[in-house]
Amino acid sequence: MLLQRCYNQSEDQFPLPPHIREQYGPFGFPQPCDASRPYISSNFVMGLDGRASFRELPGQAGGREVSRSKEDRWLMDFIRAHHDAQIMGASTLREELGRDSKGWDYAVADEDLGQYREKKLGLDRTRVIIVTGSGEVDLTFRVFNSPRVEPWIVTTAAGAQTLQTRLKALGKGADLKVVSVGEGSIVDLPAAMRVLRQEHGIRTLLCEGGPTLYGELLHLRLIDEDFRTLSLQVPGKTTKPPIERPTTYGHLSYVPETAPWFRLISLHYALPYHAFLRVRYEGPRKFDS
Ligand SMILES: NC(=O)c1ccc[n+]([C@@H]2O[C@H](COP(=O)([O-])OP(=O)(O)OC[C@H]3O[C@@H](n4cnc5c(N)ncnc54)[C@H](OP(=O)(O)O)[C@@H]3O)[C@@H](O)[C@H]2O)c1
Repeated sequence: MLLQRCYNQSEDQFPLPPHIREQYGPFGFPQPCDASRPYISSNFVMGLDGRASFRELPGQAGGREVSRSKEDRWLMDFIRAHHDAQIMGASTLREELGRDSKGWDYAVADEDLGQYREKKLGLDRTRVIIVTGSGEVDLTFRVFNSPRVEPWIVTTAAGAQTLQTRLKALGKGADLKVVSVGEGSIVDLPAAMRVLRQEHGIRTLLCEGGPTLYGELLHLRLIDEDFRTLSLQVPGKTTKPPIERPTTYGHLSYVPETAPWFRLISLHYALPYHAFLRVRYEGPRKFDS
């Protein structure tokens, strides 16, 4: 693996194996500024134009298609290994179908990192949390049937009912955790984050997309930091309007006074096609006129 370090000002919290530390440098999180919810990071890959998906091309929607990088795949596992749980929107699950149309299980695939998570960090199988208002989620997908992860769903009362019907039809139930927060089709995300921290002990949460869920979290000031793989290609606009290719920042729109800023924490790269940024949320900045 040819990951190279350019700059790293991370906290030094985790007992990284020496060969990883030598390449990556230190890794850690700051003290959370709000102990009532998890510390929330996100991880996405994007092209030079910020686009995160060749969405309209069947079978080629995913972040993997934008990335095409061994180092990005390893870093994704590295970041997953350090979080208590992962969270993603239901559309990412529905659209990233993989080769057999059963999707992915979103587990730490790298064996060494899996061992490190379990033995050195003392963390269990990662919880993969799917957010859905509709409850329209295919429970035969890999993530709901993999021994490597613990699948959870965060939904509303109505979504939970739809899921119960689906679970019953499949004769399943006991091994799927369903957390219900909110009414109608909208999960109350701030309340859900508090439930995850206070009732389920989740201290660190990694948002793996998609842009809609991430954009909501950012808008609600629930994002603490972002990991961004910059793939030095330009996906460009859709070939099939009106299906748009989203940027990682979804539908957000700001003016100069409100646009959030992030501070650089680390910068790594893999020549010649990928840069890996870690940036921490600071919020809108004031400038002297
Ligand atoms: N490049 C990358 O790293 C990367 C990473 C992830 C995804 N992607 C791409 O991003 C695209 C999908 O992203 P997306 O932005 O369209 O969708 P998304 O954020 O993955 O999912 C949106 C869905 O999540 C549920 N949801 C989100 N917030 C909710 C709330 N507050 N209350 C209730 N439900 C909520 C809803 O599900 P229901 O409709 O079931 O109610 C909603 O339709 C795909 O093309 C995927 O390949 C790229």
